[in-house]
Amino acid sequence: MREKLQKIRENAIAEIEKSEGLERLNEVRQTILGKKGELTAVLKAMKEVAPQDRPKVGQWVNETREAIESHLTARLKKLEEAALLARYESEKIDITMPAEKHQKGNLHPITQIRNQLIDIFGSMGFEVYEGTEIETDYYNFTALNTPDDHPARDMQDTFYLSPEYLLCTQTSAGQIHVMEEKKPPIKIVSPGKVFRSDDDATHSPMFTQMEGLVVDKGITLCDLKGMLDVFVRKIFGDGITTRLRPSYFPFTEPSVEVDVSCFQCGGSGCRLCKGTGWIEVLGAGVVNNRVLEGCGIDTEIYSGFAFGIGMERIAMLKYGINNIKLMFESDLRVLNQISD
Ligand code: PHE
Repeated sequence: MREKLQKIRENAIAEIEKSEGLERLNEVRQTILGKKGELTAVLKAMKEVAPQDRPKVGQWVNETREAIESHLTARLKKLEEAALLARYESEKIDITMPAEKHQKGNLHPITQIRNQLIDIFGSMGFEVYEGTEIETDYYNFTALNTPDDHPARDMQDTFYLSPEYLLCTQTSAGQIHVMEEKKPPIKIVSPGKVFRSDDDATHSPMFTQMEGLVVDKGITLCDLKGMLDVFVRKIFGDGITTRLRPSYFPFTEPSVEVDVSCFQCGGSGCRLCKGTGWIEVLGAGVVNNRVLEGCGIDTEIYSGFAFGIGMERIAMLKYGINNIKLMFESDLRVLNQISD
């Protein structure tokens, strides 16, 4: 019996030391100590041992069991440590490796221009007013001194939604809302989408404008020119000047087209300015008295100027974009290049 136990013990220890992995170790435990295990079989056979020998044999069995158990525990600990080490090894990170690159987002060029314009005009004391995209014929035309039969209506190809409602063709409609809601002094800019049935490399059926309106005592064309000079230097750079050319808008009198000196060639003439040294950037003028009076503003006391900037035009000039469509196609290869 003693030899048998000795054999079980030796075999068991050899198997335990050989077993790689927790699963195998468990199998070994079952074959020795499990219900049908070798050592369990010896215990079951105890009844065949002579009663006087039982305490001794019982003691041997217990010793064998304890020895096997302690080997099992030691092996288990070893295997667990090895598994942990392997895990550490596999999760090891090399902190000197270059980091993964993150895609950096970019604001849309029109949003960038809009933010820049709001910053510039905000620093000059302008407040922001946001108009609507659907307007009535009255606000978009009639109140801006453009009644039904006025030839200036042909200047803009309008999308009518009904005889009364239309898609706003100019942010100038916001001027009327502001003057109806507020008494002078008024100093606002109004960014917004505008819509015209027009479509080529430099025109899109939807584009973005920023309107400006100042109404106060003693406002003249000189104030407009002075403010525009500051504005163009801030947006296009130092040394840029403006030139006013006579133009026509029903809601301003006099009306002007504003050119900036070409920031590419400095005025000597290049492709960008088509050899003229000047680039047209916006329309403006002194607010027509009929518009002010229509909004209940006393023209004996107050006068004003207004301007309308095409934001796509500013973005195209500033970032060298030659086709307006590039700004609406959402091609990330294009958009990612456009930022200051
Ligand atoms: N609303 C005009 C346009 O869209 C621009 C403009 C605004 C002109 C304000 C004068 C004053 O063409």
